[in-house]
Amino acid sequence: MNIGTWEIKEPKFLPDKVEQNGSRFLIANGFMGYRGTMEEFGKNQLVALNMAGLFDKNGDSWRESVNAPNPFYVKVSAGNTELNVLSANISNHEQTLNIKHGIHSRNTVFSVDGANVTVTAERFLSMKRENIAALKYTVSTNKDICLNIETKVDTDIWNIHGNHFTVKDQKDNVLYLETIENKIPVVVYEEVVGATGKNEVSLKAGETFTFVKLCGIYWGEKVAVSAENFKEATSLSFDELLLEHKSVWDSIWNNCDVEIEGDDEAQFAIRYSLYHLNSIAPRNTNKCSIPARGLSGQVYKGAAFWDTEMFMMPFFSFTNADLCKNLAAYRINTIEGAKRKAKEFGFEGAFYAWESHETGDDACTLFNVNDIFTGRPLRTYFKDCQIHVSADVVYGLWEYCRVSGDYSLLFSGGLEMIYQCLYFFYSYAVYKPLSKRFELHNTVGPDEYHERVNNNAFTNRMVKYTADALYNALEYAKENNTAYYEEFCTNHDVSWVENFKENLYVPAPNENQIIEQFDRYFTLEDTDLDTLRSREIMKNEYWGGHGLASNTRILKQADVLMLLNVFRNEYEESVKKANWEFYEPYTEHGSSLSACAYGIVAAGIGMADWAYKYFMKTATVDLTGDTKQYLGDMYIGGTHPAANGGSWNTAVFGFGGVSYTDTTLDISPSLPKHWKNLKFKLLWQGVRLTVSINENEVTVTADKPTNAINVTVNKKEYKF
Ligand code: BGC
Repeated sequence: MNIGTWEIKEPKFLPDKVEQNGSRFLIANGFMGYRGTMEEFGKNQLVALNMAGLFDKNGDSWRESVNAPNPFYVKVSAGNTELNVLSANISNHEQTLNIKHGIHSRNTVFSVDGANVTVTAERFLSMKRENIAALKYTVSTNKDICLNIETKVDTDIWNIHGNHFTVKDQKDNVLYLETIENKIPVVVYEEVVGATGKNEVSLKAGETFTFVKLCGIYWGEKVAVSAENFKEATSLSFDELLLEHKSVWDSIWNNCDVEIEGDDEAQFAIRYSLYHLNSIAPRNTNKCSIPARGLSGQVYKGAAFWDTEMFMMPFFSFTNADLCKNLAAYRINTIEGAKRKAKEFGFEGAFYAWESHETGDDACTLFNVNDIFTGRPLRTYFKDCQIHVSADVVYGLWEYCRVSGDYSLLFSGGLEMIYQCLYFFYSYAVYKPLSKRFELHNTVGPDEYHERVNNNAFTNRMVKYTADALYNALEYAKENNTAYYEEFCTNHDVSWVENFKENLYVPAPNENQIIEQFDRYFTLEDTDLDTLRSREIMKNEYWGGHGLASNTRILKQADVLMLLNVFRNEYEESVKKANWEFYEPYTEHGSSLSACAYGIVAAGIGMADWAYKYFMKTATVDLTGDTKQYLGDMYIGGTHPAANGGSWNTAVFGFGGVSYTDTTLDISPSLPKHWKNLKFKLLWQGVRLTVSINENEVTVTADKPTNAINVTVNKKEYKF
C-alpha cells in the first residue's frame, strides 16, 4: 500500500486483502458507510452499505445493524469475459481512497482477447445530502469490443446474523423493503444516466463509455419525503454533487485538522484517523451514536460502547460541538433502556447498555463469546458487571458541557441522567460497616480478562467522578436555573448523595506507588506475555473467561493506565511512571483501545520515545490492519474508531499537553524530538483557537476573540 499526502493507494489487486481493504478504503457520511470493495463484488467479498442507527433481528440470531441493498453493483462483460478482478486477467489495478474528500476510486486494466479494457470508477456518499450515493463508471478500450453492462441495486447482500429485509415491491427503479423485526420501511432509489438496467454497447478502439449512477437510500420517517429529496439530488450532475460534497469536507477539515511537520508518516496517520471519525459520526441526528466498528459492517452488532464517550467525544467536543451534543443527547434519549436494564438485574437507576442499540436496550448477551474448544457459548460478564459504562456516559455529557460551556442539556434530561446513573451505583454498592465505606464488588474493569473483581480502581474512580458530576451539576442548576433546581430536588431524594460521594472507596497507590488494578490482583501469577502465548493450545483462544490470562497478571488493555490517563492531573508524576512501568509488560494490548492511554500518560511524564511508539500504534491501527480479527470464533474485523479518537487524544492531550478546568484551558506541550511543529484547532467554550507548537514557542490565536476565555500556556495566563 502507498501513502500520499491525502490518499492511500493499493497499487495491485491482492485477493487475500479483500476483507482488510474493505475496511481500509471505507467511505461514509454519518448516515451510511460503504466498504472499500470493487463494483463487481458481492456478499462473499463482504460488500456492505451499513446504515447508522437502523437495527434488526432475524429469529433467534443476534440483533445487529442493517446492511442496505448494494447500490453500487455493476457487472460488465466484454465478449465472454466478465470484467471481475477476482476471475479475469488484469494487467494493472489500483484502488485509491482520497481522505480529504471521502472519494473512493479504482482503475483496472483487463486483458480481454488481446484488448486492454480499462475500467475506472469513482464514488462517494454525499456529505451534503446524507441519503445520496453517487458513482461514475467508465470503460475504455484499445480495440473494438462489445460490452454487456448490468447495473442494479443488489439485494443479495452480506449479513452476519441473517437476512433483515422483506422485499415489498419494486417498480420504476425504486425498491421498497421492510425490516423483519420492527417492519421499518426502507426505500432505495436508483437513477442511471447513460445506461439502463442492461446495456449492450459496442465500443470502438479509443472510445470511452461512461455512465453515472445515483442512488437514494431512506428509512423510517425519511421515507415520506424521499421521492422529493431524491428528485432534487438527481437535478444535479455528478460533478455538481461532488463539488458540494467536497465543500462540506473542506469546512470539516478547517475546524479539526492536525498538522505535524517533520514526520510524514505521523501526519498521514493522524489525518487518516480524523477522516474515519468525521466520516462515521452522526451529523444530523441524536438518535444514534458511533458503533465500535464505525460503519464498516455489523461487527459487534453495530452497537455503541463506552468507546464513544471515553475515546471519541473528546475530539468532537473540541472540534464540532453540535455533533458532540448529538452524541451526548443520544444517551439522554435512551435512558429508558438503561432503566430497564437496571431493573432486570435487580438495581435502581440507569445501568447503560454495554452494547447500545437505538432504544438503549443492551445488545450484549450473557454468553458473548464462543468457547473455541467446545463451540459452546461462554458465560461472559461484560453485560452485567462492566458497570463503569454508566459513569463513562456521564463523563461524555459532563465533559461536553465543560468544554463547550453549553450546559443546556442538563435541563433537557441531562441532570436526570446523571442522577439516575449515580443512583444505579448507589444501589449496586456494598456498604462495609467496619471500614465505614462503600465498595463496588462483582465488576469488570476495562481489562475484560479479569471478570467479577472487587474494587477495580478505574471503575471506583469513575463512580466517584459521577458523584462529583452530580454535585457540580446540581450546583450549576441552583445558580443558573433555580426553578428547575427546586423542582428537581422536590422530585428526587438527594439526601444520600453526599454520604456516598464522601465514603466511596477509591484504591490509592501503595507504598511502592502502584495502584492495585483490583482487590487481590497482586496475588495472581506473575508471568509474561510470551509465556502465556506459549501455553496456547489453539489459535485465537480466548484468554478471558476461564481462559489463560484470568489467573495471571496479564491484562487485555489499559486499565490502571486508563485511570491515570483520564485523571492525569490528579496523580504525581512518580505515580504515573511507577504504574506505567509496572503494568506495561503485563499488557497484551489485545484491544485497540489500549495503546492511547499508554501514549498519553508517557507523553505527560517525559517518556517521549514510548509516547511516540504508542501514538503510532493507535494512529495506524486501520492502516496496518494490525489488530485482532477473532475473539474466540467471532469475527471482529472492521475499523477502530476508538483508536482513531485515541490518536487525536494522544496528539493533543499527550504531546500538546492540553488539559482544562471549568474555567481555564492549559497547554503545556512536550513534542517528540523529531517533530518540528504541531498545529491543531480547539473549540474552547465557544471560541475557535489555533495552537501551533514548536521547540521554541507556543502560539495561540483565536478566530473571533471575545476576551472572555482563559488560556494558560506553560503556566502563563492569556485571555482570548
Ligand atoms: C474491548 C472493549 C471495547 C470493545 C469495543 C473490546 O474488545 O475490550 O473495551 O469497548 O472491544 O471496541
